[in-house]
Amino acid sequence: MSLDPFDWIDEEARRRADAGLVRTLRPRPAAPVLLDLASNDYLGLTRHPDITAAAAGAAREWGAGATGSRLVTGSTALHAELENELAEFCGFEAALVLSSGYAANLAAVTALTGRGSLIVSDAGNHASIVDGCRLSHASTAVVPHADPDAVRKALRSHEGRALAVTDSVFSVDGDAAPLPRLAEVCRTEGAALLVDDAHGLGVLGEGGRGALAAAGLAGGGGIVTTLTLSKSLGSQGGAVLGPARVIEHLVNTARTFIFDTGLAPAAVGAALASLRLLRREPERAGRARAVAAALYERLTAAGLTAVRPDAAVVSVRAPSADAAVRWAADCRTAGIAVGCFRPPSVPDGVSRLRLTARADLTEEQIATAVSVVRRTAPVS
Ligand SMILES: Cc1ncc(COP(=O)(O)O)c(C=O)c1O
Repeated sequence: MSLDPFDWIDEEARRRADAGLVRTLRPRPAAPVLLDLASNDYLGLTRHPDITAAAAGAAREWGAGATGSRLVTGSTALHAELENELAEFCGFEAALVLSSGYAANLAAVTALTGRGSLIVSDAGNHASIVDGCRLSHASTAVVPHADPDAVRKALRSHEGRALAVTDSVFSVDGDAAPLPRLAEVCRTEGAALLVDDAHGLGVLGEGGRGALAAAGLAGGGGIVTTLTLSKSLGSQGGAVLGPARVIEHLVNTARTFIFDTGLAPAAVGAALASLRLLRREPERAGRARAVAAALYERLTAAGLTAVRPDAAVVSVRAPSADAAVRWAADCRTAGIAVGCFRPPSVPDGVSRLRLTARADLTEEQIATAVSVVRRTAPVS
C-alpha cells in the first residue's frame, strides 16, 4: 500500500488525460493579440476608457479593497448607488451586490429555501445554482431542460415552501428558458421563481434591461433574479434583485453575503459606469444580438451544426472532446480565440465551440471569424 496521500490525484490526472479532458491555464497578454470570441465581454466594455477610468477613480477614492464584509466596513456609498441603479434599470424593487455571480446564486438559492422546502432546478442550470441546491438542505428535483410541465408536476408533488430556478439564457447552448410559462406555473402553484440572468443582462430586453424585462416579468412579487457584473458590464461581482423584503431577508441570512468581503470599489465603480453607458448607448444590446444572428446564419449556411442563439452565445457542435480541443487550438493559431466546452461542463456529454457575439465586432471581424471556424472545422 502506498503511503503517499496524493497518489489518487495522479490516478485521476491519468484518467483525465486519457479522456482528453485536461484543463490548463493560459495567461493572456495585456494587449489582445487574438480576435476575442471567447470572453463574456458581450458589449465590449471591459477596456472602454470610461469604464477603466471609473474603476481607477473608485479605487483611488475608496481604496483597493472593500476592507471588510458588507455588514461591517465593506459597504460604501458606491455600493448603494450601484444597487439602486441596478434595481431601477432592471425593473425590480431592490438589489444586493455580492462579490460574484456565483456568490449571488448561492445566496439566493440557500436563503430562499432550507430544510423541508423543494427546489425545482432545470437540468441545464449553471454550476453555481447546482451548488446552491447542494448547500441549501432542501430537496432538489432536477427536471428536464426547458420543460414547464415537468416543473409543474414536480411542484405538485410537494407541500410547503418551493422555489423553481432556471438560467434565463443557458451558458452551453445559448438558448433561452421559457420564462412566461415558468412564471405562470410558479404563480398558480404558489412557488417562487429565481432566474439567473447572467447572460441576459445587457443583451436582452429594451436597452439590455435583461430577460425578465424582455418577458414583461420584471418586478413580479414572486420573482427574484441574479446577475453577474462580469459579462455585459465588463467588471466583476454579482447581484440579487427582487422585492425589498426578499433583499432584506438576504442581508440577514445569506451566508455568502454575510461572511464574504464586500465587492472591491474598483469593480463597483466599473459596473456602475457600464450601466450608465448602457443607458446612453442602448443600441449595444441589439447589436450583440445581431452579431450572434449573423454568426449563426453564416456558420450553419457553411454546413456546421449550431443552436439558434437567443442572446449573444453561439454554440457550435464538435464531434468529440478531442476534436473540440484541436478545433479551438486551430482557431487560436489562425488568430481567433473561441471557447471550448466539453465534459464535465456539458450536461449532455456533447462537446462544443462557444463563440461570443460581441457588440463591438466589425463586419470584417465577423467575416474573418466565420471563415476561420469553417476552415478549421473537423471533418466528421
Ligand atoms: C449562468 C451563470 N451564472 C452564474 C455565473 C457566475 O458568475 P460570476 O462569474 O460572476 O461568479 C456564470 C458565469 O460564469 C454564469 O454563466
